[in-house]
Amino acid sequence: MSTRDKLLLMLKNNQDTWISGENLRKDLGISRNAVSKHMKILREQGYDINSATNKGYRLSTGSDVISPHEIKQGLLTHVMGKQDIVCFKETESTNTEAKHLANKGALEGTVVIAENQISGRGRLGRSWFSPKGKGIFLSVIVRPRLSPMEAAGITLMTAVALAETLISETGITPTIKWPNDILVNNKKLAGILTELSTDMDVVNHLVVGVGLNVNTRATDFPDDIKPIATSVYEETGKTWPRKRIIQLFLKEFEKFYTTMVEGNFQAIMERWKELSCITGKEITVNMINSKITGKVLDVDMEGVLILKESNGTVHRILSGDIIL
Ligand code: BTN
Repeated sequence: MSTRDKLLLMLKNNQDTWISGENLRKDLGISRNAVSKHMKILREQGYDINSATNKGYRLSTGSDVISPHEIKQGLLTHVMGKQDIVCFKETESTNTEAKHLANKGALEGTVVIAENQISGRGRLGRSWFSPKGKGIFLSVIVRPRLSPMEAAGITLMTAVALAETLISETGITPTIKWPNDILVNNKKLAGILTELSTDMDVVNHLVVGVGLNVNTRATDFPDDIKPIATSVYEETGKTWPRKRIIQLFLKEFEKFYTTMVEGNFQAIMERWKELSCITGKEITVNMINSKITGKVLDVDMEGVLILKESNGTVHRILSGDIIL
């Protein structure tokens, strides 16, 4: 363990209590100057460390640092996040970064996370609001042995994994709106953007991007999305440690991903349908050049929405935006 990690551990073991610089210095066998240099770096990494004359240093419990070290500690997965975890203070888009890494051969389970995205991307060319330090902006690289058609289900699978994470950790009861929106009381809490790379007819890799509004305040959202967006904070009235949500999500993601590649996508779809807010409903779907209204008959194993118009015509819809 490096000196800085030891220092961090001492602060964590005494969270919210003052430890004198002299004690830290002696226990670590370093100079006072070295202690203050390490503190400076830890603060730059995002740890909320107070210092006061005659008292020393104190790590505040409010620290919510997203770093490879923090996420790997206590991460209960075998693959997801067990490879590289790449963390950015700021980047264009974690999906874009993950695609570069995947093209360079990054292994399955590589995770890219950012505190802030300058051009976070959503479905259908939209942007994703990514305020610094408030949300989870994360992309995972997977390399499943599935056909491109089968791999289409990964977005649905991810929505189930994210919904289960939120249910077990925050007590929120989200619903899923086809294909990839996580809603609470009809407001959007999270979205998923899956990008596929194929070689001939075989999946090369997929980048699964997840954006979750965690500690975002209603007032933080830009005016155009204010009425339709929400966050875990807004739904629970509490601030949540993003690190723990990331760890739990990676665990759920790995569980459902394994189920899927082992061939039991049916079980995932059953859960998806229970969580879905469109099952059996009358909806309108906006597509690029048209709009269809009808009753939801099904979402099939490839994630295709099957809609029946009142005149009896049945449509198979691959992509679109639902208006409930
Ligand atoms: C949507 O609902 O339209 C999908 C939103 C997906 C946003 C996430 S944030 C992390 C990852 N990087 C991106 O640029 N987009 C996805």
